[in-house]
Amino acid sequence: MIKPHGSDKLNPLYVADNAKRAALLKEAAGLPSIVISSAAAGNAVMMGAGYFNPLKGFMNLEDAMGTSLKMKTKSGLFFPVPIINVVKDASSIKGAKRIALKDPNINGNPILAVMDVEKIETIPEDKMKTMTEKVFRTLDMEHPGVKAFNTVGNTLISGPIQVLNFSYFDKEFPETFRTAGQIRDEMAKMGWRKVVAFQTRNPMHRAHEELCRMAHERLGTDGILIHMLLGKLKAGDIPADVRDDCIRIMAEKYFPPKSVLITGYGFDMLYAGPREAVLHALFRQNCGCTHLIVGRDHAGVGSYYGGFDAQKIFDEEVPKGAMEIEIFKADNTAWSKKLGKVIMMRDAPDHTKEDWVFLSGTKVREMLSEGKDLPVEFSRPEVAKILMKYYQANK
Ligand code: ADX
Repeated sequence: MIKPHGSDKLNPLYVADNAKRAALLKEAAGLPSIVISSAAAGNAVMMGAGYFNPLKGFMNLEDAMGTSLKMKTKSGLFFPVPIINVVKDASSIKGAKRIALKDPNINGNPILAVMDVEKIETIPEDKMKTMTEKVFRTLDMEHPGVKAFNTVGNTLISGPIQVLNFSYFDKEFPETFRTAGQIRDEMAKMGWRKVVAFQTRNPMHRAHEELCRMAHERLGTDGILIHMLLGKLKAGDIPADVRDDCIRIMAEKYFPPKSVLITGYGFDMLYAGPREAVLHALFRQNCGCTHLIVGRDHAGVGSYYGGFDAQKIFDEEVPKGAMEIEIFKADNTAWSKKLGKVIMMRDAPDHTKEDWVFLSGTKVREMLSEGKDLPVEFSRPEVAKILMKYYQANK
């Protein structure tokens, strides 16, 4: 199986040994503590689950700047975004060398991780701006990722962590949340060596489904890893449990048994387009995938990124050999009325606009809110039914 990023073996930061974890929890209860941001909690869960291998903890300012500017830490490790723990007020942990990080996403703020504090730094305004601009390619506070990144504070707490649980993800999504190690194990059990990953934050419509099928067939992979985001999304996006139901029924009905593995990861969406696509590739390598599908406006939002910027970054900015995983570049994909099937637009140069069935996200939301069925060319009826139920119940 493909090696993890930056090391021969995966080194998840979750403390798997029950006795050690119990001892750490006991110790943590007596440590100075701080409630961290949802983004930082997502980072901790991702490190706990091995997805951000080989990181050992939260980056300091130098590495946060290095990864923002050049996608590299001081030690030379390739990493496309800063993985940081930023708070507004660190007075509760002042002077402490060892602290407990508390989970903002669970009532009562239970302890999520223990941290050895190496540095507490204030991020100057100009550096905050540089990081934002490099990672998100915009400073617009209307961008949901920029807003989340710039409203958690400017005090950076860095150092190695030991992760004690997976926040709410394994409890709320027991069938779907998996660590990178669990995914590697499941794929090994099925004898999969060449695997294509599909990143998604949506219920899967026909285009998504067909992208998976095309990548699987054209690359000749042993299987497809559907890997959905389970963390926070912007208002208007569909909740994870609804998406999960849609994806499961679609895969069950329209893919051969044992060709698809449906899983999810605990992280808040950044909407960082190209940079997030690179992060997506990195953590799919950590779960053992050889390929990642990157299509139109991957991890984008609004019109902040060009339709294929998230593909271009792999050719233009990611140094050769930085990662082992490869990208399956997909063109705009939709139902061709002429051919009666879903295809990539570049495969039908003779088509005009009228030859395609293409619905924007806004149009889909509008139709479902008005109780109008989605066309079968766009969405499988089983998926459309689940979405209709959700929209009608949440009008
Ligand atoms: S994402 O934010 O997680 O990227 P989404 O779940 O919509 O959003 O997309 C998952 C993947 O499918 C991305 O690689 C995206 O580029 C691709 N994709 C979605 N719809 C299309 C489409 N109609 N044509 C081409 N690629 C698409």
